[in-house]
Amino acid sequence: MSKPESQDQLKMERIVSLCKRRGFIYPSSEIYGGTGSVWDYGPVGVLLKHNVKQEWWQAVVQRRDDMVGLDAAILMHPRVWEASGHVSGFTDPLVDCLQCKQRFRADDLAGDRCPACGGELTAARPFNLMFKTFMGPVESEAAVTYLRPETCQGIFVNFKNVLTSARKKPPFGIAQIGKSFRNEITTGNFTFRSREFEQYEIEYFVPPEQADQWFDYWVDERLRWYTGLGIAQDHLRLRPHAVDELAHYAARCTDVEYHFPFGWSELEGIANRQDYDLRRHQEASGKDLQYFDEAEKRRYLPHVIEPSGGVDRSVLALLVDAYEAIEGGRGAAGAEVESVLRLHPRLAPIKAAVLPLVKRDGMPDRARAIYDDLKRHWFVEYDEGGSIGRRYRRQDEIGTPFCMTVDSQTMQDGTVTVRDRDSMEQVRVHADKLIEFLRGKLGEG
Ligand code: GAP
Repeated sequence: MSKPESQDQLKMERIVSLCKRRGFIYPSSEIYGGTGSVWDYGPVGVLLKHNVKQEWWQAVVQRRDDMVGLDAAILMHPRVWEASGHVSGFTDPLVDCLQCKQRFRADDLAGDRCPACGGELTAARPFNLMFKTFMGPVESEAAVTYLRPETCQGIFVNFKNVLTSARKKPPFGIAQIGKSFRNEITTGNFTFRSREFEQYEIEYFVPPEQADQWFDYWVDERLRWYTGLGIAQDHLRLRPHAVDELAHYAARCTDVEYHFPFGWSELEGIANRQDYDLRRHQEASGKDLQYFDEAEKRRYLPHVIEPSGGVDRSVLALLVDAYEAIEGGRGAAGAEVESVLRLHPRLAPIKAAVLPLVKRDGMPDRARAIYDDLKRHWFVEYDEGGSIGRRYRRQDEIGTPFCMTVDSQTMQDGTVTVRDRDSMEQVRVHADKLIEFLRGKLGEG
C-alpha cells in the first residue's frame, strides 16, 4: 500500500482497515478479487447499519402520526422508469480514452486529455446508470426491466393505495428503506459512492400552497436527526442548490453535507419535487392520482417534499465521526495506535461485553450467567481470551460502550466493574442492576 499523503488520507485508510479487520465492512466477493464498488456488511457492520435504520424508522414513522411505512418491490413495471424520466434522462456524460480505453465521467475531468495516460478522449455521450435485466424466461426487448435506481418511485406508484388503505390526508408522508442500484461511472471513497446501496426516503405529500413551509420544516428536522445521533454539529452543513444545479423536477433542494476526510459531501438531499412524479404517473398510467379534499371540495395533485438519504453514507459518516486513533494508546506505556469508536450507545453494535477477570475461581461461570441474562435484551459479547487490557481495547475498537468485568469482589458481594469506553472510568454495579443500568444509559428507561 502506498504511503498516505495526508492526515485525512491516513484516517480514511485506518477506518477502512478497521472495518475489514473487525467485521464492519468487507469488499464484496473478495476471494474473487472484489466486485467494483459493492460492499458487504460483516457481523458488527450489520448491527450498526440495523441500528441506524431503526433510529430513522422510529424518528420518521413510529413516533409520528402523519407518516406510514412501505416496502415496495425492487423490480417494477418498466413503464415506471419511462414515466419517471429515468429511461431517457438518468445518465452521466461518458468519455472513452482512445489510447488506454479507460472510461471517465466527462464532468469529473479537468482538461480534455485522459487523466490516466494523457491520450485523446472521445466526445461525451450519455450513459444510462440503470442496471438492465429481463423479467421472465425470454431475454427479449419486451422483457427488459431495471433494478430500481431510487426507492421513491415505489412510493409514488402506491400513493393511491396508501391513501385509501391508511386513510391519510395531506399533509402526510410515506417512508421506505431499501436497496437501490446505479451503475456509477465514478466510484470510490469506500462506500460513499457504491453501485448497490441502501436509501431511506420520505415522500411527504402536501397541499401545493404548503410546499415551502414543509420544505423548511424537513430541512431542519433532518439536520437535527444527524446531530441527535451524535455527529458533531460543525461537521455538518446545509447546502442549498443553485437554480442551475436543480434536478428537472425540483423547485428547491438543500443537501445535508458531512465533512468527510475527502471533503464536504452529500449525506442527504431534501427536495421540493412539486407534483412532477404524481403527474407523470397519472399521465402514463391513465389513473387518477388526485386527492379529493372533502372539507374544501377541492381535487388536486399533492406536491411532494422528499428527504432522501443514503444509509451507507450515514453509516460511513458515523464511523468517521466516532473514530479516534490514539498514538501510543490510552493505557500504560503502549507503543501501538489504539482505536476507539465513540459511537452513540444506541448505535453501538454491541452494547456491553462481559469479561471474567481470570479463567478460574468460578469467574467464567458467573460472567456467563450475566451474559446470558443481558443477551435476552441486547447484543452483548462474552470474552475470556487474553489480558483484560487487550479485551478492553478489542471492545473500544468496535465501539462497545460498556465492559463489565467479573472479578474476585463479584464472588463476594455480587458487584461487577463497569468500564466506560470514552472516559475509561470504572464504577461498581450490582449484577442484579445491570439491566436497569444499561436501560438508563441507552435511554430506554
Ligand atoms: N429520490 C431522489 C434521489 O434518489 P439522490 O440524490 O440521487 O436522490 C439520494 O440520492 C441519496 O441516496 C443521496 O443523498 C445519497 O445519500 C444516496 N446515494 C445516491 N447515490 C449513491 C451511491 N452511488 N452510493 C451510495 N449512496 C448513494
